[in-house]
Amino acid sequence: MKKNVIFATVFAVAAALQSTAQQLPQFGKDNIDDIVRAMTLDEKINIVVGTNRVNDLTAECAPGMPVRQHVYVADAGNNSGQQNVAGAVTAFAKGRVKGAAGETYAVPRLGIPICVFADGPAGLRISPERSGDKRTFYCTAFPTGSSLSSSWDTELVKDVTAAIGNEVKEYGVDILLAPGMNIMRSPLCGRNFEYYSEDPVLAGKIAAAYINGIQSNGVGTSLKHFAVNNQETYRNGINAILSDRALREIYLRGFQIAVEEANPWTIMSSYNKINGELAAANSYLLTDILRGEWGYDGFVMTDWWAEGQGNDQMAAGNDMIMPGTQRQFDDILEAVKDGRLDEAVLDRNVANILRVLQRSPVARGESYSNRPDLKAHAAVARKAASGGMVLLENKNKALPLEAKQKVALFGNASYDAYVGGTGSGNVNRRYKVSLDEGMTKAGYKVDSKLGKLYKSYIADEKASKPADNFWTIAKVDEMPVSYEAAGDAARSADVAIFTISRMAGEGTDRSLEKGDWKLTDTELENLNKVLSAFHGQGKKVAVVLNMGAIVDMTAWHDQPDAILHAWLPGQEAGNSIADVLSGKVSPSGKLPMTIARDYADYSSSDNFPYSQNPATTYYTEDIFVGYRHFDKAGVKPLYPFGYGLSYTDFAYSDINVTPDGENYRVTVNVTNTGDRSGREVVQLYVKAPGQDMVKPVKELKGFAKTGEIAPGASETVTVDIPRKLLASYNEYWHKWVVEPGEYHFIAAPSSADQGISAAIDVK
Ligand code: BGC
Repeated sequence: MKKNVIFATVFAVAAALQSTAQQLPQFGKDNIDDIVRAMTLDEKINIVVGTNRVNDLTAECAPGMPVRQHVYVADAGNNSGQQNVAGAVTAFAKGRVKGAAGETYAVPRLGIPICVFADGPAGLRISPERSGDKRTFYCTAFPTGSSLSSSWDTELVKDVTAAIGNEVKEYGVDILLAPGMNIMRSPLCGRNFEYYSEDPVLAGKIAAAYINGIQSNGVGTSLKHFAVNNQETYRNGINAILSDRALREIYLRGFQIAVEEANPWTIMSSYNKINGELAAANSYLLTDILRGEWGYDGFVMTDWWAEGQGNDQMAAGNDMIMPGTQRQFDDILEAVKDGRLDEAVLDRNVANILRVLQRSPVARGESYSNRPDLKAHAAVARKAASGGMVLLENKNKALPLEAKQKVALFGNASYDAYVGGTGSGNVNRRYKVSLDEGMTKAGYKVDSKLGKLYKSYIADEKASKPADNFWTIAKVDEMPVSYEAAGDAARSADVAIFTISRMAGEGTDRSLEKGDWKLTDTELENLNKVLSAFHGQGKKVAVVLNMGAIVDMTAWHDQPDAILHAWLPGQEAGNSIADVLSGKVSPSGKLPMTIARDYADYSSSDNFPYSQNPATTYYTEDIFVGYRHFDKAGVKPLYPFGYGLSYTDFAYSDINVTPDGENYRVTVNVTNTGDRSGREVVQLYVKAPGQDMVKPVKELKGFAKTGEIAPGASETVTVDIPRKLLASYNEYWHKWVVEPGEYHFIAAPSSADQGISAAIDVK
């Protein structure tokens, strides 16, 4: 009898629950406002605070997989912003996709599933192995940000990101935490390899192409790090002090272009403060500008473990907190309960999030294969990397190399290329191609005696170093080259390729010391020995730069016969470099940042926190960043912004500017005057009248890349420049102003070239 009563009660409760469930609105079917209305307070907070608080922080990692050590003291309630990298291990291995960076909370009774977020940006970053599973989950390592932007080719970027987005989708991830697009204010920023440019128009257009490519797969992006995150030193709390004009014209303009042209599903706020206010709790940035002025309708998430109070972040318009701690959950709960946070704010943020998550593959019930076409994607990576390479020097047409020559490869990176940076931007790829392999496959004979020396040196050195991990890749000092080795190679090989490499990554800035900004004594000695041995034999030396940013080149740049900047070219590194050295591809990349003669020539050099841990960095150079400063101060750079040679030559003619609705349409004719085919990047600078406001000498407003032009042939490129891009931000009137007067539209192959121009009267 008793048993029957229990059964009856259980049945009645189950039936009641079922009937309530039938009446409950369901995610994906019903209106988001109805879903939010049906949610409890706890459920709402679960949606805005990521699931890390319920994941097992010591979860297993696959053998050999770089372990992520990423625990901030701030997370334990201390606001010092210091990182305790020796702390506990966070592997996020509990979720659907192992090695993903974060997840959202499910609310099963309303049909809300778990959404998975993973890094970004040079490819998808997930764990390549799962215990108990024989399959592997490798991703393609594509060229990093600075390589993509050096291509100035939005179609190339879209091809790359269509492939990355396909891996995101096929591995069951919903949102990729990319692209990163902070301005390269200083060459020492540790994350420049992930970023695009010192110029906001180039950065914004490349980011827009990136987002459009990824999102064409029905998965999302997270445009980061919003905003003014231009250094890594004390990144969790550094206070960037800058004028409203510099904020708008330099540091936000690229983000605005990306939001308007590509509408990223999400945006990641940055760690730093902007004029005293943490970016993630900054309602001027996140609500007034982003949503109010730009009309953004996605959602904003914090960067991982960002400082600050959850309730402040909610109120400012930072919709989601990642990866999510118990303290943040409690902050919000208490604030709603005691009336400091209006629940309506929470409702708004939850609705922003759910509207986006509704579009995710998991919400649409899409299946995934775990088998993207990695072979096809490797071909995309190879092509993209060669498209971004910048030829800085090429005396007497030293490059391309003649076919089938014997080459002597110097520099550790010729045998062990750097293909990406460290940190969240590092991709777990299956393989990488060295220059040694790439040149061999391209039909060159590689000096094997020299190769053996390098390979055994690198293997011995690596054996004594700790394994690579999230933050660092073992750095092997350059092998000292003896006079004898250089002489032997010079006698037997036809030409020398000398690689100079640098690694960089998240969490630290670069230094001005030897081995980072400056070349080490060994690097300089090796270069000199190789130059004198090869030049002594009447043979050429080409330098390849393998790094995500730049190094000091002043002392030696005029010595080699050729210099090719190959950036961090992704897993196909050796093949891509060989494609350019051999002439299979004519280089067509141009510099996205200025290479100065002296570090002190950069306008940020007095105020960049590269060696200290200051609380504040003053952006005293204001809008005069990069070429805007070099132009204004009349300082000659070593290689200007926008510069890059080709194996052929181009001439510009017939520039026309015509008003076309809200745009100025500029057309320019480009003729290949050399004897090989090639592609050219046409840069469109505008010189504004500057009657009321101080203006840069000129500013990039658009660009176009030609297709392959055969010798003697021409192509007309068209660039549409929106009228609003001519405006400057008047901080006294708090508005954008297009000054009337004569504007000069200059089409040029680099920022230091006169180019050809046409003037137009703007009312
Ligand atoms: C980085 C972000 C990254 C996030 C998740 C942070 O440390 O700054 O760029 O997306 O971690 O891995």
